[in-house]
Amino acid sequence: MAPKKIVGLLVGRENTFPGPFLEMVNQKGKADGITGELAVLGGTPELAEPYHAVLVDRISHEVPYYRAHLKSAVLMGAVVVNDPFWWEADEKFFECTLARKLGVAVPKTVVLPNKQYIPDIDHVRSLRNLQFPLDWEHIVSYTGLPAVLKPNTGGGWKDVFIVHTMEELITAYDQTGLKTMILQEFIDWDDYVRCICIGREHVMPIRYNPKAPFEARYQISQPVEGTLRDQAIKDARTLVEALGYDMDTVEFAIKGDVLYAIDFLNPAPDFDNFSIKEDSFRWVVDKMSDLVLAYARGEATPPWREEYRWWKYVKKTPVPNPVGT
Ligand SMILES: Nc1ncnc2c1ncn2[C@@H]1O[C@H](COP(=O)(O)OP(=O)(O)OP(=O)(O)O)[C@@H](O)[C@H]1O
Ligand SMILES: [Mg+2]
Repeated sequence: MAPKKIVGLLVGRENTFPGPFLEMVNQKGKADGITGELAVLGGTPELAEPYHAVLVDRISHEVPYYRAHLKSAVLMGAVVVNDPFWWEADEKFFECTLARKLGVAVPKTVVLPNKQYIPDIDHVRSLRNLQFPLDWEHIVSYTGLPAVLKPNTGGGWKDVFIVHTMEELITAYDQTGLKTMILQEFIDWDDYVRCICIGREHVMPIRYNPKAPFEARYQISQPVEGTLRDQAIKDARTLVEALGYDMDTVEFAIKGDVLYAIDFLNPAPDFDNFSIKEDSFRWVVDKMSDLVLAYARGEATPPWREEYRWWKYVKKTPVPNPVGT
């Protein structure tokens, strides 16, 4: 019989996804000796043989030790969903540039220098490459007003400001402290769609109302249909395929017949059944379990792993260096 393979799950506060997901992995994986469990980590030595064949990471952005463990686990041959290296490097501004290069519409966006720096940074000596003061007129002539000022990395609508005038913009910017912000054209949308994307292939577009209270945002009673559905699936696939994310949500604000990608840096997307509702939840559990089982069985490999320079060298080194040499 093939050796037992374990799928480990790393989660934060979420409560509705972990149980059904692990149950489904256990049920579908039984015949192949694949089991699913919550990962338990407590200090990782280098060259630790991975206990988990696959790790699903939903919280390493908040727990840096998990991320350190996950990077090393990749090097040692485990599969991690999502790529911990890329997740750490990714930023909203980069993603806007990427979308433009790939022909996916995004609002006009400018990345801005920070308002503040750590105390050791001397404004005269350390920041010689920065234009000062900023030419706000020029910046705003590109994005227009109203505009959205939001963090280049982040989530949960933290520090997202909608500004209507230059005064509002400066007042908001002055509150952003050490954060790197982007200023983005405000899309006065007539429709809004959020796509749950799994395995870089499966895309479920759901109508979404960002103005509703958190748990009422996914509007399943108004399905996304026709050309809007086709375009959302096509653009979402383009983005997650290029980014290499196996789980993500891609959000579109729709104005006229243009789908503007607003936020697609959600590598630990909301999977709670009370937000995405029961049918989508079952779909997520089904697709996520198929994904990790395909990785655990060796039927699939993460495409990004081969692209890391160090992976080529690691593959060529059959015997790890003993400790101390
Ligand atoms: N350019 C824009 N035009 C119109 N509305 C926008 C724009 N950018 C952001 N918003 C609104 O602000 C909300 C939050 O922005 P964004 O999704 O970028 O931040 P976030 O903190 O990553 O949010 P989440 O936690 O929902 O992923 C969006 O759902 C959207 O309603
Ligand atoms: Mg987000």
